[in-house]
Amino acid sequence: MISTFFNPAPPCNVAVVSSSFLRFKFIPKFPATVPLSSLSTVSFRAKTTVNRSLCAPGDASVQTDFCLLKKREFVFSAALPFLLILHESVEGFKAEAAERLDKREVERIREEVRKVVTKGRAPGLLRLVFHDAGTFETNDTSGGMNGSIIHELDRPENKGLKKSVKILQEAKSTLDLIRPVSWADVIVVAGAEAVSICGGPSIAVDLGRLDSEKPDLEGKLPEESLDAVGLKQIFSRKGFSTRELVALSGAHTIGGKGFGSPVVFDNAYFKILLEKPWSSNGGMSSMIGLPSDRALADDDECLRWIKEYAKDQNVFFEDFQNAYIKLVNSGAKWRS
Ligand code: HEM
Repeated sequence: MISTFFNPAPPCNVAVVSSSFLRFKFIPKFPATVPLSSLSTVSFRAKTTVNRSLCAPGDASVQTDFCLLKKREFVFSAALPFLLILHESVEGFKAEAAERLDKREVERIREEVRKVVTKGRAPGLLRLVFHDAGTFETNDTSGGMNGSIIHELDRPENKGLKKSVKILQEAKSTLDLIRPVSWADVIVVAGAEAVSICGGPSIAVDLGRLDSEKPDLEGKLPEESLDAVGLKQIFSRKGFSTRELVALSGAHTIGGKGFGSPVVFDNAYFKILLEKPWSSNGGMSSMIGLPSDRALADDDECLRWIKEYAKDQNVFFEDFQNAYIKLVNSGAKWRS
């Protein structure tokens, strides 16, 4: 975990030290005014445990440490141009080196979001996650979990989601007063809280996503009329296996489509898919499920996982949790 000591306007290159990392912030001296967003940060592992600003004057051991620190600062300064080239040139490195929020910040966001998540609101909030992240395409890495749903609420496929955004606005505004948080992060946390408040797994998510300022391309979410082949194709384009498609579809266990209690996150979805109640003539049971849910039960490859999850809820929870984390990291751009 990286804990950063924040310095709003440092005059030169600054070494920031935490318990297990030495974080080096490259701040050019010229020109004098550099937008904060353009600054590059590179993290190094180091054993040093002293923060320069915490040194007491006259303390010999601290001074020794401080000298060491200055030497390291010099070595890092010399190596910095090369490291920056490496930083910029290795594809994917930026995301790996990016700063994810520390535990305290994550907890602050969770606490605030938790205040507005109720069982009744849970289905809409979980659906919001899929409608933001589900636009992701692996071929050009467009779309994904980037908060762009905020700009897409008038699309027909997003009907009903304005309500969920409004619920989260309250939490976001409170959080923004202390330190701005992205819509993407708020939605990801709300989805995880929605699952857990309804009795599903507790999902630990990384935070620190950036929001997109424009809508994602249209037509990227699966239509409910798709058959299993179509669903597998579209999910595969988003990087998901058949197993992950089935696990994620299990989100429909909450909400109003008739898979057991609308506010209990369990494996009832899969048990009911195996019974195929829609095959009965008339009555309420013929209304259960979306065409896309029913299609899964007619496909052998999907059926294997439906049976597995119907038999063992723990396996469903484990797979859902992993697929959720993958979903909410799809196409995410991280603070750096
Ligand atoms: C497999 C492709 C999927 C299709 C075609 C699909 C489509 C739909 C549709 C048409 C609804 C009904 C909306 C309404 O009642 O007006 C719905 C509800 C819902 N969807 Fe999906 N969805 C899919 C996958 C997912 C995934 C992956 C998630 C989350 C991980 C998800 C979460 C939800 C939830 C929680 C609801 C209930 C919302 C409520 O009752 O308010 N869906 N979905």
